[in-house]
Amino acid sequence: APPLSLANIKAHLARFQAIADANGGNRAHGSPGFLASANYVKNLLDGAGFVTVLQPFTYGGLTGYNVIADWPGGDPDNVFMVGAHLDSVTAGPGIDDNGSGSAALLEVALEMSRQGLKPSRHLRFAWWGAEELGLRGSAHYVNDLPVSERKKIKAYVNFDMIASPNVGYFVYDGDNGTGANVITPPEGSAELERAFKSYYASIGVFVQDTPLNARSDHGSFLAVGIPVGGIFSGAEDIKNVAQAQMWGGTAGRPFDPCYHQACDTVSNIDDTALNRNANAIAHLVWASSVASAPGVV
Ligand code: PHE
Ligand code: ZN
Ligand code: ZN
Ligand code: ZN
Repeated sequence: APPLSLANIKAHLARFQAIADANGGNRAHGSPGFLASANYVKNLLDGAGFVTVLQPFTYGGLTGYNVIADWPGGDPDNVFMVGAHLDSVTAGPGIDDNGSGSAALLEVALEMSRQGLKPSRHLRFAWWGAEELGLRGSAHYVNDLPVSERKKIKAYVNFDMIASPNVGYFVYDGDNGTGANVITPPEGSAELERAFKSYYASIGVFVQDTPLNARSDHGSFLAVGIPVGGIFSGAEDIKNVAQAQMWGGTAGRPFDPCYHQACDTVSNIDDTALNRNANAIAHLVWASSVASAPGVV
């Protein structure tokens, strides 16, 4: 994959921040800030040639939306899917959580269009609503899909928090290597973990496993046995001394000290992490687009 433009990704983050600022300080489920975020993403994808759907659902008496974007072409029976949640908590604008994953994924999609990528598999992108209220948008998507369509999705890869300011570099544990997984990874998840790890090794960045759990939208796919993967820069957990030696930053402090708070703004972003992780996503999407199921080369 060609290197992505960090400036473009940061411009998407600035837009999410401006949307929150203009709408009561957040982009939460059911709010005008969420809908404005969804329309921003959808309009850019429409202009780039994606086939998009704004999929509505109701939760807690409020309407939420998923943005689902299909890149035309590729084997319709071999779908590779990637996603990020687009909603914030009500406490703040949600720029690391999860403007970061949303903006990086958007730029990957737009770059794919600029390059005229012609994948052999079918690629589908998703920006989820109401993750913060319990994976509601992704659960709606998965439950709404006919089983025949579900079976075509050979892998789902999730991006939720990829630029935490006291950064960690974590890869979802698809091979149960840590023994800390809450959910046994479906076959295929290990391949996604390996693909990310070999990419980070190639750029000289150490990574650690993060246990596979249902703490983000990959949980909705795990629930129906679809192989999953993902990367993560850390949330409320405290960075330890060994991790600070590996990655820099401050031991004894959370990976994201502004997690779920009003201070999760455009200042709450590590640019180096954003750049590396966005390029890791691009690498995985490019490699997977021509792979056999489920994962990669
Ligand atoms: N899903 C959490 C949130 O949005 C963050 C998270 C992602 C935690 C991945 C663990 C693993 O707040
Ligand atoms: Zn999140
Ligand atoms: Zn969150
Ligand atoms: Zn592992």
